[in-house]
Amino acid sequence: MNSGAMLLLRRCRGLTLLSTRRLPVAPAVASCAVRLRSSSAEDQGSYQRAHRPGWRHAVAGLLAGTGAVLAYGLHQHKAEQEAAYPIFSQEEVTSHRSLQDGVWVTYKGGVYDITEFVAMHPGGDKILLAAGGALEPFWALYAVHNQEHVLEMLSEYKVGELNAEDLKKQKTMQTLDPYSSDPERHPVLRINNLKPFNAEPPPEILSDSFITPSAFFFKRNHLPVPQVDPATYLLQVEGLPGGLLTLSLEELKTRFPKHTVTATLQCAGNRRSEMNAVKQVKGLNWGIAAISNATWSGARLRDVLLAAGYGPDVARRAGHVQFEGLDKDVTGTTYGASIPLNKAVSEEGDVLLAYEMNGADLPADHGYPVRVVVPGVVGARNVKWLGKIIVSADESSSHWQQNDYKGFSPGTDWDTVNFKSAPAIQELPVQSAITAPADGAVVDRSSEELTVKGYAWSGGGREVVRVDVSLDGGKTWQVAQIRSSEKGQAPEGTPPTGRAWAWKLWEITAPLPPGAKELKIVCKAVDNSYNMQPDTVAPIWNLRGVLSNAWHRVNVKIREDEREE
Ligand code: MTE
Repeated sequence: MNSGAMLLLRRCRGLTLLSTRRLPVAPAVASCAVRLRSSSAEDQGSYQRAHRPGWRHAVAGLLAGTGAVLAYGLHQHKAEQEAAYPIFSQEEVTSHRSLQDGVWVTYKGGVYDITEFVAMHPGGDKILLAAGGALEPFWALYAVHNQEHVLEMLSEYKVGELNAEDLKKQKTMQTLDPYSSDPERHPVLRINNLKPFNAEPPPEILSDSFITPSAFFFKRNHLPVPQVDPATYLLQVEGLPGGLLTLSLEELKTRFPKHTVTATLQCAGNRRSEMNAVKQVKGLNWGIAAISNATWSGARLRDVLLAAGYGPDVARRAGHVQFEGLDKDVTGTTYGASIPLNKAVSEEGDVLLAYEMNGADLPADHGYPVRVVVPGVVGARNVKWLGKIIVSADESSSHWQQNDYKGFSPGTDWDTVNFKSAPAIQELPVQSAITAPADGAVVDRSSEELTVKGYAWSGGGREVVRVDVSLDGGKTWQVAQIRSSEKGQAPEGTPPTGRAWAWKLWEITAPLPPGAKELKIVCKAVDNSYNMQPDTVAPIWNLRGVLSNAWHRVNVKIREDEREE
């Protein structure tokens, strides 16, 4: 919105206030909205451009230039405006729930007409879920909103106040923290976001163990962890000729053979911080540890689908298997995702309805009592707290399948992005990273050699066949030793072609190059399709910071032995 539009908005508000105090104001606001819409359409403003602080600075500059008298006048005007905002009932607010009728929300007793803002919301049209109601429960769920600049933005859209009685009712409803029953977590985890909980382990822990202990396994939650009673838990399977199949936890465990798979899960946003360093992206600032490896046990999804009537006729009409979690937002919308049907039913796909992780019941954070494990596929499709499976002709309609977890060109920005134009991420590209030493570490020259460790993995069951390591920024390379089982155990041998679901840990010990004061350590992996990682981030940068898999780089200083100096 340009400064002209802002002035127009203020003027409209002024008019509204004068002409409609305590009278129904919708038409006046609506007419302002129409005028505003046309002015902002001219502007073609994006979220960023609309809210860049330029106009505010201009106003501030104006204020500074015209001195205290004007400042006082504006202050008075603002105070009068505050006092003069019209009062609305909750019912009036609730009647504005669409782009046609206007999108109104309340926040701390204020009423806001955010119709204009909907198109600019970074979280897409999810904001419409809040239409007609209070923002507080959403902001409690998506705590990223609790920032000063977001409040400042919101204040621009204020059109009134909620009446005292309805405000009191709202407050009593909002006292519960939806995250109060989230489980305890290990303090070693590095928290990216507390509510919902998102955390990764310190990288050096990852390479110490082929199987990541569940407590250290990265945790990626979009919503509060649901509390599921295993005694009453029911899994529903829909969309197959047998009709609705409902399975208790006990039935899932006893009617189907238990199958165990060691598989790595990686979040699409792993290593996003490296994209952020090139140019700001939207999303949690993950380091290199939004990836972990575990042993998962449960029923094969294929077996359950066959029991529910899956057959070749279904394959002709359906193309996807959708999953719904039991974690819900305030509107009852659940987390959801889908995978291609052929992955779900393939004998070699190894898709599990897992009820165990590392030999024990799934921990609450990882989907207790049942989650989907889709080996080789991005973490987002591995739906936790699984409530429903739907075999369908369509992909999941969930926000996370349609409007998130997709890749775009570095040239696509929030003004031009069309989420419909890109496929949902499924199989991930080849990946590797250095877990030790840490970036900025100091090594003593007297130690003479250095051990570099890390992980490597590729999506779609493609096996990592080589990891190259350089100590001089990529001028010369050495091949690292890779292992695919616990240290001290006999190597597991080569996994069946196309079913290399687990990562490989690698290490290399090299003499410290004489005379070098610094090492620029780089790693890159190669999979059995000879896919290799791109060398730099910039050409794969994308606005959501997903699929970040450039060569990983760590710089280390060499401290000379003081006696020699
Ligand atoms: N399933 C549900 N029901 N809710 C979620 O928030 N997050 C997804 C996926 N499954 C999520 C979910 C994402 S984005 C990832 S990366 C993985 O779970 C993370 O799994 P983890 O927490 O077990 O590591």
